[in-house]
Amino acid sequence: MKAIIFCFSGTGNTKKIAKLWADEFEREGVETTLFDVTGDMQELPDPNDFDKVGFAYPIHAFNAPHIMLDLAKKLVKAKDKKEYFILKSSGEPLKLNNISSYKFSHILRRKGYALSSEYHYVMPYNMIFRHTADFATKMWSAASRLAPIEAREYLGGKIHKLAYIPFGNVIAFIMRIEHPAMRVNGRIFKIDENKCVKCGKCVKACPMQNIKLENGKFTFGGDCLMCARCSFNCPTDAFNIALLNGWRVNGKYDLNYAGEPEKNAHKRYCRRSYAKYFENAQKKIESYREKDEK
Ligand SMILES: Cc1cc2nc3c(=O)[nH]c(=O)nc-3n(C[C@H](O)[C@H](O)[C@H](O)COP(=O)(O)O)c2cc1C
Ligand code: SF4
Ligand code: SF4
Repeated sequence: MKAIIFCFSGTGNTKKIAKLWADEFEREGVETTLFDVTGDMQELPDPNDFDKVGFAYPIHAFNAPHIMLDLAKKLVKAKDKKEYFILKSSGEPLKLNNISSYKFSHILRRKGYALSSEYHYVMPYNMIFRHTADFATKMWSAASRLAPIEAREYLGGKIHKLAYIPFGNVIAFIMRIEHPAMRVNGRIFKIDENKCVKCGKCVKACPMQNIKLENGKFTFGGDCLMCARCSFNCPTDAFNIALLNGWRVNGKYDLNYAGEPEKNAHKRYCRRSYAKYFENAQKKIESYREKDEK
């Protein structure tokens, strides 16, 4: 059996989840390709050549990033109502995030694909504010234990749907203003010349090749999808992401933090939804542990 997961990940969270799924598929004897989605879509694999097909992406403004919509438009048509699954990651567990696949799956449906299952993992924010290291570790602990269970569950034929949100299509449509807005915003990024060490990391990392550094000068094109990869990974925090700069998060998270809990300025933020998410995750992990022990 062969599987493919088309994965777009700005700062690595979604890729970590997709990799856990791919590793679990392999353990179950499914040869799995983890395909990195970039702006260059010249040679896309044909999903019809695979038995299992998945798509993984981070949620951006309650939607799939526009690179995923472009991918859906560019894929070849499905033969025989090809089924696929979706894996998504986001910083908060709000149910409203469920609407993030509506447009994506609508495009695929028109090409003959059928959404079979969807999974949502909460991972640390790469935008808005920085989660504390202990909270980020808690998120990763839940996601990294859930993902292999859910990958097996999926291979076993279980259908997993996320709750339907009434008027979700309308809300997602309004929120997709983010796509053109980020293209414009990406043109006005700035670099703090006092901090930048001209390492070129941001240039190389951009999935849209939107950043140019020539003769020591930066220029930015109109293809930004606000994935935050450039600013998040800048070693000197020299990146200014224009209108969203107040929400910038810089630097990788320690996902295996074992120290004292850090002071958390956002501890009330979405408190109930996080509590519910962790509670459900724990229940599922324990129920599978019991099944495995039997
Ligand atoms: C432009 C942008 C918009 C985002 N919008 C949302 C959102 O609507 N809901 C949410 O929970 N997280 C949102 N996030 C946070 C990311 O979805 C989250 O950190 C995700 O795990 C990042 O995955 P990645 O590392 O694979 O890019 C947003 C992040 C960015 C950069
Ligand atoms: S990653 Fe940061 S330090 Fe390196 S070239 Fe880009 S802005 Fe400058
Ligand atoms: S410019 Fe930065 S935020 Fe925009 S697509 Fe490139 S890496 Fe992502």
